[in-house]
Amino acid sequence: MVSRKTNESMRLIVATFVGVVFGFFIGVSFPTFSLTKLNLSSSTLTTTDFKYTKHTKLSPSSSTHVQHPIGNNGTSANVTLKKIWVSSNPRGAERLPPGIVRAESDLYLRRLWGKPSEDLTSTPKYLVTFTVGYDQRKNIDAAVKKFSGNFTILLFHYDGRTTEWDEFEWSKQAIHVSVRRQTKWWYAKRFLHPDIVAPYDYIFIWDEDLGVEHFKAEKYIKLVRKHGLEISQPGLEPNKTLTWQMTRRRRDLEVHKETEEKPGRCNHPHLPPCAAFVEIMAPVFSRDAWRCVWHMIQNDLVHGWGLDFALRKCVEPAHERIGVIDSQWIVHQSVPSLRNQGEAQDGKTAWQGVRERCKKEWIIFQKRLSRAERAYFKQVNSTSH
Ligand SMILES: *[C@@H]1O[C@H](CO)[C@@H](O)[C@H](O)[C@H]1NC(C)=O
Ligand SMILES: *[C@@H]1O[C@H](CO)[C@@H](O)[C@H](O)[C@H]1NC(C)=O
Ligand SMILES: *[C@@H]1O[C@H](CO)[C@@H](O)[C@H](O)[C@H]1NC(C)=O
Ligand SMILES: *[C@@H]1O[C@H](CO)[C@@H](O)[C@H](O)[C@H]1NC(C)=O
Ligand SMILES: *[C@@H]1O[C@H](CO)[C@@H](O)[C@H](O)[C@H]1NC(C)=O
Repeated sequence: MVSRKTNESMRLIVATFVGVVFGFFIGVSFPTFSLTKLNLSSSTLTTTDFKYTKHTKLSPSSSTHVQHPIGNNGTSANVTLKKIWVSSNPRGAERLPPGIVRAESDLYLRRLWGKPSEDLTSTPKYLVTFTVGYDQRKNIDAAVKKFSGNFTILLFHYDGRTTEWDEFEWSKQAIHVSVRRQTKWWYAKRFLHPDIVAPYDYIFIWDEDLGVEHFKAEKYIKLVRKHGLEISQPGLEPNKTLTWQMTRRRRDLEVHKETEEKPGRCNHPHLPPCAAFVEIMAPVFSRDAWRCVWHMIQNDLVHGWGLDFALRKCVEPAHERIGVIDSQWIVHQSVPSLRNQGEAQDGKTAWQGVRERCKKEWIIFQKRLSRAERAYFKQVNSTSH
């Protein structure tokens, strides 16, 4: 009995031992075995895939195989890779199919609901911007009313007050941009990029202190078109002495494009300030003229002084394309506004400080322009030899 039991337990121990050893060998050999098998199967798979993609270049599945490193040849990637490169697209957008590229935008307001194609009930063809402080609201309200529904209204607020303007019904449809203590040309450079204001035939970039009692925007535009003006302004009714004769309203004319100045002021009758000249307080630009002028505005010269003398660089022939509309005229009220937003410094008043900066900017602008022109002609000369 006892020996039989020992015999059985011995057999059990031997069986277990054999089982464990067998299992150990299987366990040890299994990973290599399975890996080899996997390797084999994956290599056969990629080979067939490779052939497949080679023969069906345009099949959608082929592009997914581009990611796999297939051999060292690299040709397969070339066969299946289909990247877009359209050099006529706007710079930086060459990888996009041209059909989706929207290089220009607009300032039209849209709804949050419904069909996008039905959002716009009107697409104004003209844009008017005013650089405003809340104190001038009565004047701006009167001015805005001279612009019909064919105009997009855009206000640049230099005093940070915007919601107060909602007392006017039109304000709810207007676009308000609020950045404290900046100038008209600072805003224009940042927010009126030619590609953004592209849908507008004409762009008014106006000050806030203009009297518009004798001005109607639609009539003004009709005259601008009639006389082919690319850059213009309404005549100024002088209620004090004007700096330049060119912008003075002529009572006997519809439009004028040249004038007589004080002796010594004009080198040539076709050059500013006797012609090809409007001031920067109430200019109106055509789309094409604005595209050029925008590029000429300097980022650091915020007052725009000197710009008026350089506008002629943007249109050709300037003395025919720049003019003053006399029959739609305005009054310059010379209300001190943004000037008083300066800061008193070194014993000078805020207003003196601003004025000095204006003059300084004018000199800097002139220097940059003439330097750039000289550099250009020098280069053109040297390459033409
Ligand atoms: C490697 O590329 C050459 C052409 O550069 C091609 O002729 C050859 O068939 C390719 N090899 C394989 C394995 O695809
Ligand atoms: C891809 O193939 C084209 C011709 O089919 C060849 O001109 C081009 O150089 C190839 N590019 C690469 C990266 O091999
Ligand atoms: C707006 O423009 C259209 C098309 O030019 C013109 O017919 C219409 O009279 C203009 N609206 C006003 C109020 O002048
Ligand atoms: C200029 O005109 C405005 C309004 O048209 C008036 O308030 C202001 O007193 C006038 N200034 C002078 C100096 O006549
Ligand atoms: C360009 O070259 C011409 C003649 O070669 C010369 O008269 C003119 O001054 C040059 N202009 C500049 C800006 O160097």
